[in-house]
Amino acid sequence: MSAPANPATLRLPRLAEADGIVTIHLDGEPVAAKTGESVAAALLAAGHLLLRTTSGGAARGLYCGMGVCWECAILVEGEGVQRACMVEVREGLRLRRLEGREAAR
Ligand code: FES
Repeated sequence: MSAPANPATLRLPRLAEADGIVTIHLDGEPVAAKTGESVAAALLAAGHLLLRTTSGGAARGLYCGMGVCWECAILVEGEGVQRACMVEVREGLRLRRLEGREAAR
C-alpha cells in the first residue's frame, strides 16, 4: 500500500510533535516511527494498512486498537506473534507480516 502524502497528520498531536524517532523494519523495509507509539500506530501513519492475511487471503489490519481482536497479529523478531497495537516501537524492531495459516493462534 502506498504511503499518504503527509503521515504526520495521521498521528495524535502529542506523538506528531514528539522528538524521538526510531527506525523499525517491516518485512525488511525501514519505517520511521515516533517514540512512544505502538507498532500499529507507526505502521498506519506510514501508510501500511495491511498487517496480515487470513488463510483465505483476505487482508487484515488494525481493528479494535486495544488488544482484544488480534486482527493486527504480526511476527516480532525474538518475541513471536504479538498484537501490533500492544507493542511499543523501539529502535531496530524487526517485524514480519503473517500470511495465511501462520497467523492462526
Ligand atoms: S487491533 Fe485488535 S488486538 Fe490489535
